[in-house]
Amino acid sequence: MRIAILLSCLFFAQFSANAQYNTLWIPDTLSGTNFNLVLKDTFAQLRSGNQTITAGVNGAFWGPTLFINKGDEVHMNVYNKTNDSTTIHWHGFHLPAVMDGGPHQVIPPGTLWQPFWKITNQAATYWYHPHLHEMTQEHMTKGLGGFIIVRDAEEAALPLPRTYGVDDIPLSLTSRRYTTGNQFVYTNTAYGDYMLTNGTPNAQVSLPKQVVRLRILNAETERAYNLGFSDNRTFYVIGNDGGLLNAPVGVTRLKLGVGERAEILVDLTGATVGSSFDLKAYNSGQAFGFPGGEPGTSGEFGSLLNNKDFTVLHINVTAATTNPITAVPTTLVNNTYLTAADATVSRTLTINGGQPAGNPFVFDNKIFDFNTINKTLDVNTTEKWTVTNTNIFSHSFHIHDVQFKIISRSTGAVGQYESGWKDVFYIAINESVTFVARFADYADPIHPFMYHCHFGNHEDEGMMGQFVVKGSTSTSDIANPLTYNVFPNPADDRLYVQLADPNAAVYYVTIFNTNGKAVMMLPQPQVQQGIDITTLPRGAYSIQVMEKETKAVSTKKFVKL
Ligand code: C2O
Ligand code: CU
Repeated sequence: MRIAILLSCLFFAQFSANAQYNTLWIPDTLSGTNFNLVLKDTFAQLRSGNQTITAGVNGAFWGPTLFINKGDEVHMNVYNKTNDSTTIHWHGFHLPAVMDGGPHQVIPPGTLWQPFWKITNQAATYWYHPHLHEMTQEHMTKGLGGFIIVRDAEEAALPLPRTYGVDDIPLSLTSRRYTTGNQFVYTNTAYGDYMLTNGTPNAQVSLPKQVVRLRILNAETERAYNLGFSDNRTFYVIGNDGGLLNAPVGVTRLKLGVGERAEILVDLTGATVGSSFDLKAYNSGQAFGFPGGEPGTSGEFGSLLNNKDFTVLHINVTAATTNPITAVPTTLVNNTYLTAADATVSRTLTINGGQPAGNPFVFDNKIFDFNTINKTLDVNTTEKWTVTNTNIFSHSFHIHDVQFKIISRSTGAVGQYESGWKDVFYIAINESVTFVARFADYADPIHPFMYHCHFGNHEDEGMMGQFVVKGSTSTSDIANPLTYNVFPNPADDRLYVQLADPNAAVYYVTIFNTNGKAVMMLPQPQVQQGIDITTLPRGAYSIQVMEKETKAVSTKKFVKL
């Protein structure tokens, strides 16, 4: 008991350079190709008084940063030990829909979900987060989520800061509202009242006197951030959601909508050791519709942080490290971007709804419905989408499966700061945004991908659509999709599934215990290598196998020794 109290105090209350601030928590790291992520209901000492009930991945709030290399096949072991069904979505990744972790890939409590895919994304800052329909805001508010940093050869060859936690800092920006008993509020609230930077209230960090890299994620429900530094210094955007830019872009302010990421360089070579300054949200006086610009201090759309300039991170400058980066590079990578001329299909999407007041925001006048496929696309096609916002608020538009290139904004030129690969964009009132994307490689007739507003409250209320990417219709003839063997039986550590028909393939395996509860879910498992069942308790199980093309399902029993 005493140890628990001590540990939870240590987590958030390390006072160092300035007692009004807490040391920024830097998430732990995991690397390699096999990642164990355990989702748990837990608690954290976020404020004085009661602890707050939270959920975390391998910890008390938020989760580890996963380092992965482009070209690797990564295997995720997502073990849902919370009391709720949830999902984990790999935001920004190009991958098969069945591995995507959107609202269709539900992980029941107590179940191990094992998606895997080959990383084709460029080096950039991505993230994982829950995506259960109507529960996204709650599960994210509780703290589930984490960063994914992809590395590749092009990025590795550049003189950029990349010592994690030293000159390369992940920053997850969010805020929370609390009940008087210090519990999170996640209904009828679009905004938090208190800033949490990597889960740390009033965060401060020591940064060395050299060029440093900040990987900033807007992990809010709805608030946008108009970021800048208290000394109004110029900083350099080097990367968007899905990759490095061609060259750094100097700015003094940067707008980041929900779900967006920006990698920036801050040149501290001229700073004085011992001096401090702040990374701030300059959110006061924004145009109507800016999320977080509403004037109220309470209620669903009010907040203590609304329409204010507030500190996101207090920065203390310390001595340079050995081998510091001392200059902002003039060029970065050579991107070959898609253009309008590459697109063979054009689509439009209209954001409407919201009126009369209190109605949900929607796309094309339709609220999200699991039983409606809103768009059907052909695989390996380049498409141009124009999203038009006709309603009374701004939004954050996100689409799964692809990284796109924004080619126009009706309100003016596309800023250099968002000229790279993107998977989310901010869309203002009465604005149209056009992007081009290629829907390559992965077709699946039954698992759709999503497009949606990334505001947790808006997506939960149905501001989402789903699209299926269709492949060429197969001509193979599967006479016998349901005949298969599971062996050995009883099995000790590995279970093999062999289909009798040589044209048949396994699409999905689910293992149930004798209570009928799913304990393992394996999308498109590599059955030749066997299914690792070492985590299952001894006993009787049933295994349900779905064949890939026919989607025929059949169940057999086996015993785990
Ligand atoms: Cu970050 Cu559909 O999600
Ligand atoms: Cu929205």
